[in-house]
Amino acid sequence: MIHNTSSSSTSGTRDNRWTLHGKTALVTGGTRGIGRAVVEELVGFGARVHTCCRNGSELDKCLEDWDDLWSGGMISGPVCDVSVGAYGDCVNNVGTNIRKPMVEFTPEEFSTVLTTNFESAFHISQLAYPLLKASGEASVVFTSSVSGFVSLKSMSVHGATKGTINQLTKNLACEWAKDNIRSNAVAPWYIKTSMVEQVLSNKSYLVEVYDRTPLRRLGEATEVSALVAFLCLPASSYITGQIICIDGGIHAIVIELVRLGVTVYTQPGANLSLKNAYSWEKKGFKVTGWNMNAILGTKENFTLEFCSLSYSHFSKARPR
Ligand SMILES: NC(=O)c1ccc[n+]([C@@H]2O[C@H](COP(=O)([O-])OP(=O)(O)OC[C@H]3O[C@@H](n4cnc5c(N)ncnc54)[C@H](OP(=O)(O)O)[C@@H]3O)[C@@H](O)[C@H]2O)c1
Repeated sequence: MIHNTSSSSTSGTRDNRWTLHGKTALVTGGTRGIGRAVVEELVGFGARVHTCCRNGSELDKCLEDWDDLWSGGMISGPVCDVSVGAYGDCVNNVGTNIRKPMVEFTPEEFSTVLTTNFESAFHISQLAYPLLKASGEASVVFTSSVSGFVSLKSMSVHGATKGTINQLTKNLACEWAKDNIRSNAVAPWYIKTSMVEQVLSNKSYLVEVYDRTPLRRLGEATEVSALVAFLCLPASSYITGQIICIDGGIHAIVIELVRLGVTVYTQPGANLSLKNAYSWEKKGFKVTGWNMNAILGTKENFTLEFCSLSYSHFSKARPR
C-alpha cells in the first residue's frame, strides 16, 4: 500500500505521474527476493520506505547496504505494529509455501501458509485503511501468484491463499474506491528468489519449468518490482481491481480455458494448442459446457471438465 502525502496528481504533468516523491510506503518482507526489489524500486522513484521481516540481522545488513546507496534515511525497519499509525503504506509482499499434497498438510502447516499469505495481508490492509483514506489518494498492492488462477502440482494450499488474495483485491477495489484507494495485485510465475531456490535446484524440474514458460526463462525480482512500482505511481491512477500476471506468458496459455471454468493441471513438456482440447474430446475425454465456439469455431456448448497441458498426462489421468 502506498499513500500520497502530496497533492493529487492524477491530472498532473508527466513528471508528477512518474514520481513517488512525498509518498511513504510500507513493504512487508523487504529483505530478500521480490520484496527487496520492490523496496529499491520505490525508493528509486522517490518514496520513503519502511520494511519488515523476521530476521533482525538480515534486516540490519540490508539497512547498511541501503544506507550506502541512498542517504537521508530513505529506508527504515522493522515495522512491527502498523496499528500505531506511524505508517500507512504497504505493499503486501510477504508469502510462504509448503509444497505437498493437500491431504498431507498438518493443521500447523495449513495455518502457517494461511496466516502468512492471507491473514497478514488482510490485517495489515485493515489496520492501514484509516491512513490510506486520510491520504486522499492511495494504492494497495497485493502479491498473488499464478497458482491463484490455475492448479499447480503440490500447491493446493498456496493456490487457495493466493486465490483468496485475488478476491480480496477485487473486493477492496470496489469497497475502497469511494476513498480513492486503489487495490491491485501482481501474480508472478517462477521468479529467482530464495523461496524457489530449492525446488528449482532439481535440474529436471527446472527444465520442465523452462519448457512450460513461453519466454523460456525464469523471472527476475526486478521484473516484478517494476510492475509493483507502476501500480503505486500516479501514472496508474485509473487501474484498480486488477490481478496482473508476470509470468513469461504461461497464463496466456491457460487463460482461455480458465475463463471457461476449467481446472487446468499444468504438466511438463507442454505445448498446448487449444485445438488439442478438441482433439482430446475426440479421443474420448469428457468435454461439456458452453462457448467452445469462440475459441475453436467448432462447438456451441462445452466446458472442459478436466484437462492438462500435457496430453500424455491427461490421457493417463482421466479416461472416460
Ligand atoms: N519467487 C517466486 O517464484 C514467486 C512466485 C509467485 C508468487 N510469489 C510471491 O511473492 C512474494 C515474495 O516471494 P519471494 O520469492 O520474494 O520470497 P522470499 O525470497 O522468501 O522473501 C520473503 C521475504 O519475506 C519475509 N518474510 C517471510 N515471512 C515473513 C513473516 N511471517 N513476517 C515478516 N516477514 C516475512 C522474509 O524475511 P524473513 O524470512 O527474515 O522474515 C523475506 O524478506 C510471496 O508472497 C510469494 O508467495 C513468489
